[in-house]
Amino acid sequence: MLQRPRGTRDFLPDEMERRRAVEAALRERVARWGYREVCTPEFEELELFTIRSGAGIIGEIYAFEDKGGRKMALRPEITAPVLRMFVNEAKVLPKPLRWFYFADCFRYERPQKGRYRQFWQFGVELIGADTPGADAECILLADDLLRAAGVPSDIHVGHLAPMKHLLAGLGHDEQAKAMAFLDKRDFDGLAGFMAGIGKPELEGRLRDLAHARSLEELFAVTGEIPEKDRITKTIGILDRAGLAYTLDFGIARGLDYYTGTVFEGFAPNLGAENQVLGGGAYRLAHLFGGDDVPSCGFAIGFDRLMVSLGETKLPRPVRVAVCSTEEGRLRAFEVARAFRDAGICAEPDLLDRNLGAQMAHAAKSADYAVIVGKREVETGTVTLKDLGSGGQKAVPLPDAVAEVAARVPR
Ligand code: HAM
Repeated sequence: MLQRPRGTRDFLPDEMERRRAVEAALRERVARWGYREVCTPEFEELELFTIRSGAGIIGEIYAFEDKGGRKMALRPEITAPVLRMFVNEAKVLPKPLRWFYFADCFRYERPQKGRYRQFWQFGVELIGADTPGADAECILLADDLLRAAGVPSDIHVGHLAPMKHLLAGLGHDEQAKAMAFLDKRDFDGLAGFMAGIGKPELEGRLRDLAHARSLEELFAVTGEIPEKDRITKTIGILDRAGLAYTLDFGIARGLDYYTGTVFEGFAPNLGAENQVLGGGAYRLAHLFGGDDVPSCGFAIGFDRLMVSLGETKLPRPVRVAVCSTEEGRLRAFEVARAFRDAGICAEPDLLDRNLGAQMAHAAKSADYAVIVGKREVETGTVTLKDLGSGGQKAVPLPDAVAEVAARVPR
């Protein structure tokens, strides 16, 4: 038997209904903030993803040569494609641009619960604004979206400047390694690394930085830094909005394009893969041939939201099974159509089963059975049976439709 590829999933209808309901809640909420949907290709030129991060990330990417010998990649994330699109198509539009996307990404990772090779992101890019207000809007929107989805999460907010300030004496590769240890909270690894490069004293300061939970503690570690005002103002807006968050200046983020504010959201009920969103302020447009436009954004790991929500029951549409005898079979199709025309899900029998078998099936799959037999055909009625209460009555078709319509959640 052929199986689906490793790290991918199939979604049966129950799961798709749950996913679509959560997606609809996110779409509805993001629209209130003025964000409009964009869509980019599923595959791009490989260079789009290596131009900032270097060839090192090819190991994590589904990269391939197309039949014309071009080096291509399935998108591992959607920020670079959106900024490429911005430079190609939209750089003259009035700023700021508030855009969102809901689409799948591909990463060649070791699959586990919450970590897949194909996964969906619900993401936001705010292009062309470089202010505390822009950074704060992204963080507050991230929080609002998680609330709309019903996933309580802990949002950690940081900024790259303090970490870079402490690491300023190191070369690019050493900085990157130190930041990776910090990001993983691997302080033993960090200590070993710092000792190895002859900077053991730095490790203590970096540890204090990662543990700072207030601006006072932060600036006690860094002293005066040029970004102090910007950080203070951004945090001031979050406080004024009443956001519950954790200050965390140990966040380094895995992707290489971030330049300032960074943030991540964690769902406490998830295991190892508990990061449900990540983002921050970044610059990419100038790498793709545009001006150096500042941007800020984040992406929610939609599949992790779904794992966090678990088997939560969602309201499902009312369903009608149209059951008929031989004499009622033709009329059954008309009856089904009348329900559908009123916006109600109706399914006639397609297996030419006897009435008993149809009723048994209806009991398992529907909320109402609408029976069309010889008597109903002769009297121009249907028998409406409420499969929950068991009550049934013969009524004209429009009355049956009206009664069920009254139960359909609007
Ligand atoms: P990221 O942190 O790499 O950021 O991914 C965002 C979120 O996608 C993660 O927090 C996680 O929830 C989810 N995610 C990542 N990898 C996987 C996976 N293998 N399986 C399931 N979920 C996963 C970005 O991608 C940036 N483009 C976010 C951004 C937008 N920054 C600025 N704008």
